Amino acid sequence: MPSDAARDDGSEGAQTAAVLELLHAEPLVSGERISEQLGISRAAVWKHVEHLRAAGYRIDAQRAGGYRLAGAPDRLLPREIARRLTTQRFGRRIIHWEETDSTNVEAVRLAREGAPEGTLAVAERQTRGRGRLGRTWVSPAHVNFYGSLVVRPTLAPADAPQLSLATGVAIARALEPLAPGRVAIKWPNDCLLDGRKVAGLLTEMSAELDRVHWVVLGIGVNLNAGTRAFPAELRDIATSVRLATGTRVDRVAFAASLCAEIEAIYDRLLVRGFASLVDDWQAYSCLSGREVTVDCAGRVVSGQVRGLDDAGRLVMETAAGEERIVAGDVSVVGGYARDGARERR
Ligand code: BTN
Repeated sequence: MPSDAARDDGSEGAQTAAVLELLHAEPLVSGERISEQLGISRAAVWKHVEHLRAAGYRIDAQRAGGYRLAGAPDRLLPREIARRLTTQRFGRRIIHWEETDSTNVEAVRLAREGAPEGTLAVAERQTRGRGRLGRTWVSPAHVNFYGSLVVRPTLAPADAPQLSLATGVAIARALEPLAPGRVAIKWPNDCLLDGRKVAGLLTEMSAELDRVHWVVLGIGVNLNAGTRAFPAELRDIATSVRLATGTRVDRVAFAASLCAEIEAIYDRLLVRGFASLVDDWQAYSCLSGREVTVDCAGRVVSGQVRGLDDAGRLVMETAAGEERIVAGDVSVVGGYARDGARERR
């Protein structure tokens, strides 16, 4: 079941949301003013304030002055994300779970039910977070971002990997202000921070031969997780923004900025094509010029990475000549500094 906070559509929830809006708008607001403004009784105002408190809002009641919003809960609540959204479509419908098995499972279900483009399924915790290639995505409660966006691109199914690459750039851009110059992309779309994995993308799609019905972009970003959130075998290869920078991330602000970055790059991909994004991807890539091994569903290709072509394929120089790879899992010897960062050293 989605959490109560997601249900802002019924009149009860809508009134609670309206009370919250007034509390957000002014430092101090009297019960009388709320009651007049919304056309509800003082008792109803009190009831909505209690609802908000139960949802984790800190609301001080001052005898003479009225109500003061002292703090919002550290939760990815739809109404809180909505307040910070700058997008037209992405994140304009959000469904929030306190706990679910996987937001991708939820988003796939929503997509099949006809959810509009930009619908976001978001959770505080996943009990069966899924990673690429059948791996598990560690998803502890209330510290990270786990969200899945439904999109309906006018792309040929064969070009869908371009959408994953573009989304990787959007994730890197959302992370960049939190750790300037330290974010990199490992092909196809792993985001690294100081060379350790900080975010990943799991893309699922439904298509006919020549038409995509929907794509679910499942995004996991380690924001505030501490070391103990990671199992021992991941501690050397994974990180969170807080672990790497020492600064706690505002998860709601991050969710809103992620939606904005994805919408911007998605629109660019569809209007101007992937070639217009290659340089942006390349600026974050940590692989150019590196000796790598790529596992392409069991076929192993070794060689030096040249870069990305205009179709989004990884271009490699191998002993047998040039190879262009659409999908695979890369291993690299040595660290993962961003190409630009390596040049600056
Ligand atoms: C990867 O292996 O790098 C991809 C990880 C993707 C994890 C996210 S978390 C939100 C969404 N729900 C899932 O079960 N997986 C994706």
